[in-house]
Amino acid sequence: MEYQIKTIGVLTSGGDAPGMNAAIRAVTRAAISNNIRVKAIYRGYKGLMEDEVKEFTTQDVSDIIHRGGTILKTARSEEFRTPEGRKRAYETLQKEQIDALIVIGGDGSFTGARLLAQEYNVPVIGLPGTIDNDLWGTDTTIGYDTALNTIVECVDKLRDTATSHERVFLVEVMGRDAGFLTLSAAIAAGAEAAIIPERTPVVEQIEAAIGHGRRKHKNSSIVLVQEHAIEGGVQRVAQLIEEVHPEYGTRVTILGHLQRGGSPSAYDRILASRLGCAAIQALLDEQRSVMIGLENDEIVYVPLSRAIQQKKAIKDDKWQALQVLSI
Ligand code: F6P
Repeated sequence: MEYQIKTIGVLTSGGDAPGMNAAIRAVTRAAISNNIRVKAIYRGYKGLMEDEVKEFTTQDVSDIIHRGGTILKTARSEEFRTPEGRKRAYETLQKEQIDALIVIGGDGSFTGARLLAQEYNVPVIGLPGTIDNDLWGTDTTIGYDTALNTIVECVDKLRDTATSHERVFLVEVMGRDAGFLTLSAAIAAGAEAAIIPERTPVVEQIEAAIGHGRRKHKNSSIVLVQEHAIEGGVQRVAQLIEEVHPEYGTRVTILGHLQRGGSPSAYDRILASRLGCAAIQALLDEQRSVMIGLENDEIVYVPLSRAIQQKKAIKDDKWQALQVLSI
């Protein structure tokens, strides 16, 4: 007899991202409309290990599509990285009679999900939820578009004060080890340059950034700096600029966790809704250990192993566009 999924668990894990609530809503409603029960797991893998579980009805996900953050809360769990932690998690799945797990998160969350699937033969589906957009196999991730718009809005505001002074404004942008947010925000905000880890050497990027501003006889420049592009971060970039060009004053803005907040954009709400529905369909199609992605506006199933292990590349035309447009 075919293995039938009667109950799913859903959790959010890692850094929250705008649109996670829309994904929770879609997963819940798509499951219930297919006669599958939904058990919501709070605080990510921590809550899974500690049995913080509540059955959801369609009403539990009412009025959340427009909210940032995650109603399920989230966490980064060291214990779940250990075999003992995953054993505890599996015991909760058994106790709660959860047949399959949907994990909304980034690559750290998927690494844990994959191990749980391998060790205990649990069907697991991943939904890409991270502002970093650093998962291979999907054009974009839930939260990326909203974060990008937030960054651009902040840089637009900075421009007002920047044009009134002779300074280099350095803006630190999140992204863990990826520069997608930084590069795209630099293009959209019309910044002089982006300093990202994928393009080295960073010191040359800094020199070029200053050069761009000077060539334009501009009073001021705006440079976006990926948080981990260089050891010492954006403060180190400021120091390097002032050492070489003492005539420039630098000002540093760290956008920080502002970038993860706010109501999700329409794009992220639609993306999360589509991926959430597709996650339930994937389970019904007997897909296991896959991430649901979007490629050329089509839903794709990407093996979790590939989503985690393959490195998504920065589009060279975007990098070139920034160089050309900032001359
Ligand atoms: O992965 C999302 C992200 O916001 C990264 O861009 C950032 O490096 C990290 O999380 C920050 O994590 P935390 O909220 O745990 O400080």
